[in-house]
Amino acid sequence: MKPKVSVIGAGQVGATTAQRIVEKGLADVVLADIVEGMPQGKSLDLMEAAPLEKHDAKVIGTNDYSEIVGSEIVVVTAGVSRKPGMSRMDLLKTNAQIVKGVAEKVLQYASQSILIMVTNPLDVMTSLVHQITRFPKQRVMGMAGVLDSARFRYFIAEKLKVSVKDVNAMVLGGHGDDMVPLPNYTTVNSTPISKLLSQDELDALITRTRNGGAEIVSLLKQGSAYYAPASSVTQMVKSILLDEREILPCCTLLEGEYGLKGVFCGVPCRLGRKGVLEVVELKLTDEEKKALSKSAESVRQGVQELSSLLSS
Ligand code: APR
Repeated sequence: MKPKVSVIGAGQVGATTAQRIVEKGLADVVLADIVEGMPQGKSLDLMEAAPLEKHDAKVIGTNDYSEIVGSEIVVVTAGVSRKPGMSRMDLLKTNAQIVKGVAEKVLQYASQSILIMVTNPLDVMTSLVHQITRFPKQRVMGMAGVLDSARFRYFIAEKLKVSVKDVNAMVLGGHGDDMVPLPNYTTVNSTPISKLLSQDELDALITRTRNGGAEIVSLLKQGSAYYAPASSVTQMVKSILLDEREILPCCTLLEGEYGLKGVFCGVPCRLGRKGVLEVVELKLTDEEKKALSKSAESVRQGVQELSSLLSS
C-alpha cells in the first residue's frame, strides 16, 4: 500500500501538487476542497491520465474531511490570493479564518500527520496552524525556501548559460520582501558564485528572486505561480516519505537556532520520515544574521497583528 498524502485546497497549487506526487508514484493523494464537484472532477481527470503516465497511485477528490484519516502528510493550500483593493491585513484575516478551520479538521482527522503549509502569508499561517494543532514542531513546517532557492538557481543558470542541475543555492528568512539569499552558499558545480558574477549582476538576480512571485502575478494577470510551488512541495514530500534526510530550506519553529527564539522562519532543515529532523546552522556573516533577524521580526509582527485581528 502506498502512503497517503492529503492536499487541502484543490486550486492551482493543490491540484498541481497532487499531479506531481502521483506521477512520481510517491503516494496516494486525497484532494479536498470546499467547492463541490471540483476536486472530484480534477481527481478523475488525473486518474484518467494514469494509464498514459504509467503510475498506479490513486487520487481521491472530496469535500469530506473524514477522507484525510491516516494521512502521513497534509499539505495546506486552501485560501484566497490577494485581489485588487484587498489590503495585506484583509488577506491575512481571510486566510487565517480559512486556515484555522482547516487546522481544526486536521487535528480531528489526521492528528498524527506532518503538516506542510503553503497558504500565504506563509510564515504567519505556519505559526497559526502550530498554535491551533499543538503538533510537535517537527511536524509543522512551511514551504517557501525551496521555491525561493529554486527561483534563484534558475536565474543564475539562465544568466550563466549553465545547467540548473549544477547550481546550488540557499535562500533563508521569511517568504516575502525580506527573504535572505546566501551568496556565500551559492555555487555552480562547486565554484563560488562570486567568482562567476560581479556584485551588480548578483544583486540584480537577488532582486529578481525577491520579486519572483510578483513577477509571475503581473504576467498572469490573475492568480499566482503554481508549477514551481507544486514542485517545491513535492520535493519536501519526497524527502519526508522516502526518509531522504535532504537539507532543504523550510519555515520551522526556531528555539535558539540562529539566535532566534519562538518564531517561525525559513532556515535549512533536514527532512525525513519524522518531519524536521534537525535545523542546520550555517555560519552567516554579520550582515546575513542581521537580515535574518529582521525577517524573523516581521514574522513576529505579522503573528501579533493576526492575534489582535482574531480577538477583535
Ligand atoms: N477548505 C478547503 N479548500 C478551501 C477552503 C476551505 N475552507 N477555502 C478555500 N479553499 C480552496 C478554494 O476553493 C480554492 O480551490 O482553496 C483553493 C485555493 O486555490 P487557488 O485560488 O487556485 O489558489 P492557489 O494558486 O492554489 O494558491 C493557494 O498558495 O501559494 C499560495 O498565495 C497562494 O495562499 C495561496 C495558496
